Amino acid sequence: MKTIFSGIQPSGIPTIGNYIGAMKQFVQLQEEYECFFCIVDEHAITVPQDRIKLRQQILQLASLYLAVGIDPDKATIFIQSEVAAHAEAAWIVQCNTSLGELERMTQFKDKSQKTGAASVSAGLLTYPPLMVADIILYNTNLVPVGDDQKQHLELTRDFVERFNSRYAAKNQELLVLPEVKIPEKNAGGRIMSLQDPTKKMSKSDTNTKGFISMLDEPNIIRKKIRSAVTDSSGKIEYDVENKPGVSNLLVIYSSLTDLTIDEIVAKYKDSGYAEFKNDLAEVVVATLEPIQERYKELLTSEELQSILDLGAMEAAKVADKTLRKMKNAVGLGRKPRR
Ligand code: AMP
Ligand code: TRP
Repeated sequence: MKTIFSGIQPSGIPTIGNYIGAMKQFVQLQEEYECFFCIVDEHAITVPQDRIKLRQQILQLASLYLAVGIDPDKATIFIQSEVAAHAEAAWIVQCNTSLGELERMTQFKDKSQKTGAASVSAGLLTYPPLMVADIILYNTNLVPVGDDQKQHLELTRDFVERFNSRYAAKNQELLVLPEVKIPEKNAGGRIMSLQDPTKKMSKSDTNTKGFISMLDEPNIIRKKIRSAVTDSSGKIEYDVENKPGVSNLLVIYSSLTDLTIDEIVAKYKDSGYAEFKNDLAEVVVATLEPIQERYKELLTSEELQSILDLGAMEAAKVADKTLRKMKNAVGLGRKPRR
């Protein structure tokens, strides 16, 4: 069976962008793959976090993984910082990655430009090597992510090829070369902000009207969709260039129903934005309500704690084995004795 790894940062409550771009795929993929779904808390502290909130968000994300339908009997759900191999492998990855490669990453450039490169944490720069470590430790074949992670996956593939050619003994398969799996843009690979449809929807947006959190109450969801930025033409059409707002709403609608974008456009050809938005709000509410109900039961349950305990143990078994191989390849420590 092929292996899947993916992670989400507990840096806020996941948005419908996370749901459509990542989590929804996870649920389908667990049927066909050996899956590891991680709460990447070590990635979250690359920018300042409140300790109490971070702890909360870790459990909230874990509950949401389960509430959307990830089945702990089929997939391993765990917290990154509870498996020590991640941080350790990341060091070896950093030492085999050039500074130039890291400085080219657009996510680093964007985030560091906001505050100035001198004052951001070094972890923001070395964030991609930690992500590479996450992926390679599980001999991952496929990584389902949203469009914004494409460059990090390219870095991962470059790293694996370099590491294998530097260190693998003849005919040895040292690290597995992963493939990336991104939904098409019109299928939810990049859900945009409701307030600025040229920007990615992000859970850490300071303007909370820009995103729909997976835990937003129905009336908040309705309000946010009603005030989503559109345009003055009044026509419901898919045209990302000229009508980014409406196009984004069409993608959300289509991703959460079994209707294609063309079918939705046809359905609303004689309607205005208000009616379209009202219906979309009900689609989003109907998707999130049952998830939120399950979430509430899980959040404070003993079951959640045991799933995470077991997840960390199962993950460590696989990760430790790969880490041993990596250390051995590089020449760290002493030769293993039998
Ligand atoms: P993050 O919230 O940055 O940890 O992202 C977790 C996963 O959700 C990654 O696979 C992202 O690519 C995906 N994702 C985040 N935001 C969006 C978005 N606006 N549209 C589609 N996918 C997203
Ligand atoms: N960097 C990813 C994001 O911000 C999260 C992440 C960390 C991840 N490690 C990963 C995604 C490994 C896929 C595989 O979205």
